[in-house]
Amino acid sequence: MAVVKARPNRKTIITDAANFPTDRYILQGIAQQFGMKLLVIDNETDGSFERITPEKLAPYLNDDVALVTFEVIQYRSGARNPIKEITDLARKHGALVVWDASHSAGSIRMDFDANEIDLAVGCTYKYGNSGPGAPAWMYVNKRVQNELQVAIQGWFAQKNQFAMGPTFERADGIRGFQIATPPMLGVQCIKVAFSMLAEAGIDAIEKKAALGTSYMIDLFDQWLAPLGMTLKTPRDPRHRGGHVSIAHPDAAQICVGLREISHVIPDFRAPDAIRLAVSPLQTSFEEIWEGFSRIRDLVASKKYQEISNKDLRVT
Ligand SMILES: Cc1ncc(COP(=O)(O)O)c(C=O)c1O
Repeated sequence: MAVVKARPNRKTIITDAANFPTDRYILQGIAQQFGMKLLVIDNETDGSFERITPEKLAPYLNDDVALVTFEVIQYRSGARNPIKEITDLARKHGALVVWDASHSAGSIRMDFDANEIDLAVGCTYKYGNSGPGAPAWMYVNKRVQNELQVAIQGWFAQKNQFAMGPTFERADGIRGFQIATPPMLGVQCIKVAFSMLAEAGIDAIEKKAALGTSYMIDLFDQWLAPLGMTLKTPRDPRHRGGHVSIAHPDAAQICVGLREISHVIPDFRAPDAIRLAVSPLQTSFEEIWEGFSRIRDLVASKKYQEISNKDLRVT
């Protein structure tokens, strides 16, 4: 909303069909509220594993575009988008780019400052290991911090917060993006978890994510492809992050079976994806082997078809 308000004469927002539902729904709401056009790039049917490239984005850009927003790593396919190239391209047309880094924070190097990223948001409970409900975060490049303003003017963004004055006077810089008291227990979890990530180092973490996902793909080729399963994630490790998605027409039921029979906890993602992640700090290569052998055995035996539990909601 801050971006859209900072570009009042522009009436177009761009996103992609594979973006996370919350992101798409929020954009639909903003477009409706501000009388804007929401352009949705189709990256679900073009065989790209949902990957967005500058070439794919270019035809949609013009001087009416205020905001472009994608995920760094696609939540379903695991495809990784080139954040610098896309941001640079959108900037040439005067648009700002917001990256959803929920699946990339803590799994790959992003270098927001060096790559001159405009804005990014994300959660801390995936590769951040800070626990469900731990607070989200936002990154705003210093270049645009004073140009943008969040819609809610809370006392944490007030220049002299404890003066309790009659009118809102926005603090400069990133403090102007705060709203209210942060949840301190969650913040403590973040402090501990991210200090462990920092100690391991993001380059070592990214390397393990690439090796772990390569190993998963090798096991997929040997064991799961012959069972009629298909890979929905790019094979080039530079084009993915810490998870892979494997498709099967019975994916939803297989996920329940994995949980209840095989004691493997995957994610099911509609319509047909089984999402499997390496959390580089904890997941060992032996666990990857063990998990994949259990998937193979369950799918080969078709035992998942006997499950009476029809609750197909998985994580
Ligand atoms: C890419 C992405 N964006 C946004 C969200 C929404 O996160 P939250 O439920 O913390 O708002 C998720 C949740 O999984 C996600 O994967």
